[in-house]
Amino acid sequence: MCGIFGYVGDESAGPIVYRGLETLEYRGYDSAGLALREDGTEALTIAKRAGEVDELSVPEGPSSTCAIGHTRWSTHGPPTDANAHPHTDCANSVAVVHNGIVENHEQLAADLPDHEFTSETDTEVIPHLLEETLESDGLRSDGGSQAAGTTDVPVALRRGVESVTDRLDGSYAVAAVHAGSDCIVATRQESPLVVGHGDDASYLASDVPALVEHTRDVTYLEDGDVAVLQAGTVTVYRDGTVIEPEISTIDWDAEAAQKGGYDHYMRKEIHEQPSALRQALGSRVDVNAGTASLDVDFPQGYLESIQEIQLLAMGTSYYAGRYAATLFESLADVRATPIMASEYSYTGGRDPWRTLSIAVTQSGETADTLGALREASAAGARTMGVTNTLGSSVTREADDALFIRAGPEIGVAATKTFASQVSTLALLAIAVGRERGALSAAAAREHLEDLTGLPGAIQQVLDEEDRIRETAHELADSDAFFFVGREYGYPVALEGALKLKEISYDHAEGFASGELKHGPLALVTPETPVLAVLTDGAHPQETLNNVAEVQARGAPAIGVTSGTLEGGTLDEAFEVPDAGIFEPLVANVYFQLFAYHIANAKGRSIDKPRNLAKSVTVE
Ligand code: F6R
Repeated sequence: MCGIFGYVGDESAGPIVYRGLETLEYRGYDSAGLALREDGTEALTIAKRAGEVDELSVPEGPSSTCAIGHTRWSTHGPPTDANAHPHTDCANSVAVVHNGIVENHEQLAADLPDHEFTSETDTEVIPHLLEETLESDGLRSDGGSQAAGTTDVPVALRRGVESVTDRLDGSYAVAAVHAGSDCIVATRQESPLVVGHGDDASYLASDVPALVEHTRDVTYLEDGDVAVLQAGTVTVYRDGTVIEPEISTIDWDAEAAQKGGYDHYMRKEIHEQPSALRQALGSRVDVNAGTASLDVDFPQGYLESIQEIQLLAMGTSYYAGRYAATLFESLADVRATPIMASEYSYTGGRDPWRTLSIAVTQSGETADTLGALREASAAGARTMGVTNTLGSSVTREADDALFIRAGPEIGVAATKTFASQVSTLALLAIAVGRERGALSAAAAREHLEDLTGLPGAIQQVLDEEDRIRETAHELADSDAFFFVGREYGYPVALEGALKLKEISYDHAEGFASGELKHGPLALVTPETPVLAVLTDGAHPQETLNNVAEVQARGAPAIGVTSGTLEGGTLDEAFEVPDAGIFEPLVANVYFQLFAYHIANAKGRSIDKPRNLAKSVTVE
């Protein structure tokens, strides 16, 4: 949800920042812009416009070695040229890019009657407040001091950013540049921001994939940290004092964040599922011993004592949480409740006594999910973040963090991270079940064998892509698509429908198979294919009866089966290899490819579907 990139070093900044924005475009893609600073000029060069990054041109001319850029997902004000970031003060001497929402922007703007606002954004108030603050600090727009020409621009800009952001309510990641010096000042509150350390350059980005082609050494800023970036040096202030920034090393390479020969990131990420699962499961599983070790230390006796596990999440992560809730109930004999995080205030933490609240979030930054996590924690629950993103907010805020190790996921539609979330949570369910004495070693071994067989099982599905493409093309013009399943097949039906609707823009719904005859059957016609999960773990024989009901109304039925069904004839059947209760997870890969090929046939913007963004950092 909005991408920020910044560079200060000894190379030409414009192309580097532009490239960073291209990499971050999955975070928002309705407008883009850059602010470039050049020695000897009092005004910054600004280029910005509505549209995707490739519609923006890097201004030719300025020999800038310091620049910031932004790719936008609109919250306040429609995507127009004027609303695109960066926003500037009246003299164009300060430019700001922002990710988040300034909730009190109207009150703050009311305090600036002499300032002319040129956009409808909540962000624009920041550069105007900075202008006031810097002027009162005696800083001229060219960086000299009004009195003696000696003001230190980085110091003044840092103080200015600190004092302005102190007045902001809401969430923000902010980066600011001033015409007077090659320096970027950045800070964050509940929105991600990562600093990259180069030899002669410093980088700033909303997310790591944009940094890996430049450096593997990064610092995840904490809420309230203020970073001053100059060529090759980064100074981080916490509560006004300089701290030694903690440097983490990224262990995946730039290629992992590129398309690697695929047309779309989404298709690449679907095909990466076998290797993502090997990473998630590999070193954690000892099949012979029937154990899963997860690098999480719970207090002695804690797992035996818990009364409930809550799974707090949104979207695809919520469906992974639903799958996991059933795993916890059946493998660990503990009450497990999936809760849509945005509803948590109304339905959730009433009774957090001995509750483990798990926030399931690929990005680790989803505002709704973090909000629920905070509520659960405030009410006394122990919390855990299950995430793909090292250094993300959820890892800092939860008592424990468990990584799904899927590698970077760039496509806005989540694919491989769903499989990795479910598998990692399955390991947790097995560990909890063993600890609580609810799962025998033999049963644990069986489930672990099924889990470790998933990469191979999914590869077999991927090898059938041509046939799925054909089916998808035959059905592409249908009026609507319905996905059905039971037990573990139900969250997969919901996820299958979400995938299709978000990338093809077709109407798709997921239902519990038994629910069809209680209303949705009225929607079924010969033009509404029904896709059914008919594998182990999804009660295939019962669902087959429901499939017969839709076929009787003329709807084509496509089933994903384990191969052994009695009675019933599907219009098209796809098979999954044996994987026990994880077969629906394998079936999901058919649904991902089905959605992909329908969307591709329709020429949709698969990696960047309309109106969506990868990381939703506003509530
Ligand atoms: C759908 C999708 C979204 C996310 C949701 C939560 O394909 O990607 O529904 O699953 O926005 O995001 P995270 O997992 O980052 O919290």
